Amino acid sequence: MSNKLVFDYSKSCGFFEQCELEKISSEVKTAHEMLNQKSGAGSEYTGWLDLPHKYDRAEFEKIREAAQRIRDNSDVLIVIGIGGSYLGARAAVEMLSHPFYNCLPFGKGKRTGIFFAGNNLSSAYIKGIIDIIKDKDISINVISKSGTTTEPAIAFRIFREYVEKKYGREGARERIYVTTDKSSGALKRLADAEGYESFVIPDDVGGRYSVLTPVGLLPIAASGADIGKIMNGAADACDEYMNPDIKTNQCYQYAALRNILYRKGKLIEILANYEPSLHYFAEWWKQLYGESEGKDNKGIYPSAVDFTTDLHSMGQFIQEGSRNIFETVINIEKSKQEIVIGRDKEDIDGLNYLENKTLDFVNKKALQGTLFAHVDGGVPNLMLNVPEISDYYFGQMVYFFEKACGISGYLLGVNPFNQPGVEKYKRNMFALLGKSGYEKEREALLKRINFEQK
Ligand code: PA5
Repeated sequence: MSNKLVFDYSKSCGFFEQCELEKISSEVKTAHEMLNQKSGAGSEYTGWLDLPHKYDRAEFEKIREAAQRIRDNSDVLIVIGIGGSYLGARAAVEMLSHPFYNCLPFGKGKRTGIFFAGNNLSSAYIKGIIDIIKDKDISINVISKSGTTTEPAIAFRIFREYVEKKYGREGARERIYVTTDKSSGALKRLADAEGYESFVIPDDVGGRYSVLTPVGLLPIAASGADIGKIMNGAADACDEYMNPDIKTNQCYQYAALRNILYRKGKLIEILANYEPSLHYFAEWWKQLYGESEGKDNKGIYPSAVDFTTDLHSMGQFIQEGSRNIFETVINIEKSKQEIVIGRDKEDIDGLNYLENKTLDFVNKKALQGTLFAHVDGGVPNLMLNVPEISDYYFGQMVYFFEKACGISGYLLGVNPFNQPGVEKYKRNMFALLGKSGYEKEREALLKRINFEQK
């Protein structure tokens, strides 16, 4: 087993010519320079590039101490945030914890229950969390770079009131941790006014690239994962993917192949995994690529499936539907657990041919069988081989996909570090809610609503 990620595009070679890869290599070099010399569009948000080596050590220690305090005095941590202020932490917690971490007994000094809130506007969801934490000691980590995003702001108002009722205003101060901008936003003002312990989101790191900042690191550390190992993995990946040559830089190969396939009409990428614990990693990946590339009427639409589960729902489409898709498979080489299939005297289920085989052996055969079926059906396949699920490889995977995303965005000809489109719905929502400053939009929208109702 290698100690690196290995990217393998051999199963997509039938879908493009070798000369296309050679041709794109000079574009990749240019993209490499734009990214690393910080001369490309959005370069003011590329602080994540050097983060694995240059992170703030003092802040890192503060994070570890806060996480330990949470683990010592709380049964449950409520993590409030949305989008880039949520998905990275959730990806790590789901990937690195027990598959049913919130179902196991949790408690102080043992396992901390982690619940995510502020990532939707559902009353039932929040009420559900409140039902669960009723007799538990809790802490809150509220995360918002702008400090003004509606979903986490409302959730924070609700949970802040809850902890203040339970512990008093003074007691609540000991249990509320704020991760936000160093100087601006309503959340920062609130944190200063109340004296909550605060962590800073660096100015030069955008939401979807922020998992290796306090945004992700505090909840991840509170869940029990080793954030030092995560940073080590990211640092090794940072060194590994520094080389501009596409022949040896596998991260750049992934970025280049996506664009070669896109230019050939493969407009949808499906990220597939065979470990359910990677479900939220794929959610994180979807935001990273969707928000970075989907602009100027361009971009590969990022979607994801959990196999083998979704082979029974999406398998038909992938095999025989519109041929505008390609697949990227994350293959975890060594399973964390080993389950051996036993012998049954009667063999009524006909499974004795699998006697003494591990369940992971079957999973790997499903992967191989599916791969060849999909390639034969006209779906190019890219594969990222990950030695095993661990804190260290989580760090490597984050950096691999982040860097590939920056390069891929430049190959596509967009600014991979802005997200002008996400503001549009917010303006409409504020207008309809009657927020001041949105009167004009409100009037226009109400006219449209009345018109459509007639
Ligand atoms: O990637 C992004 O910029 C967005 O997804 C934001 O992270 C998300 O909208 C939350 O923003 P904020 O952290 O300002 O609350």
